[in-house]
Amino acid sequence: MNVVYLNGAFMPVAEAKVSAMDRGFLFGDGAYEVIPVYSRRPFRLPEHLARLRHTLEGILLADPLGEAEWTRLINEIVARNEGEDQSVYLQITRGADTKRNHAFPARVVPTVYIMSEPLVTPAAAQRESGIAAVSAPDVRWLRCDLKTTSLLANCLLRQQAVDAGCVETVLFRDGFITEGAASNIFAVKNGVLLAPPKNHLMLPGITYDVVLELAARHGLPCEVRNVPEAEARGANELWMTSSTKEVLPIVRLDGQPVGTGRPGPVFARMYAWYQDFKRTVMRGG
Ligand code: PDD
Repeated sequence: MNVVYLNGAFMPVAEAKVSAMDRGFLFGDGAYEVIPVYSRRPFRLPEHLARLRHTLEGILLADPLGEAEWTRLINEIVARNEGEDQSVYLQITRGADTKRNHAFPARVVPTVYIMSEPLVTPAAAQRESGIAAVSAPDVRWLRCDLKTTSLLANCLLRQQAVDAGCVETVLFRDGFITEGAASNIFAVKNGVLLAPPKNHLMLPGITYDVVLELAARHGLPCEVRNVPEAEARGANELWMTSSTKEVLPIVRLDGQPVGTGRPGPVFARMYAWYQDFKRTVMRGG
């Protein structure tokens, strides 16, 4: 039975109910996080909670719990659910009001929800053959650094990939890569790893940080800078990264091969480093 946390209590997911007047439902007015859990250890929890704080500050919603209580509740959810590897999802909305009103309620009582799902990382076959992606203009707002539950644009963009039989949509804004519909995007050109800089146009991914750290640790040359669309299309390799997808090679973009059209040698190295890191650090050795 999937056990969730809602507003102060643990319960089976089927019993978790929120008001139809909740602003998360009416306006997508909320913040969220997705935290991968390996061997029952939430990965980089302080970093995820720092990103949550950044989102809450950005949407002017006071943190109802604080770091110590979040940590306690997340560990409790992990303990109460099955599986060594899990994906913890948490969200906080600006709660319910008595009538629909864009402006905030006079007294905000946030809705706090935490659940856990099995962590399903990509199948070996998908990693070995690589994935296909489409591209689209990044039509989202200008605060993509905030992890908010207003994800309609991301959903529409991801669906474009699915409708084309692909896995991800690579987004371009003003001629540069921003990120994927639900991932960060890296390119490799002439042996150099290219990463778009963290700013208001992309989510600062926790996996993005890990990839850059592993590159630095193993001496892979790396440039954090804007990546023009032409450079992305002419790259030797393209990757997508996220907590649940880890690192995946994109081998086709809009029907055209990326590089050789096969997962590249730099990806193979990064994947090995990532798996080693997972075994030794994420699982706590
Ligand atoms: N999404 N960019 C976007 C738009 C994302 O939605 C995500 C992750 C990332 C990667 O962030 P991280 O490495 O911290 O997972 C980048 C999660 C997994 C989701 O919405 O389900």
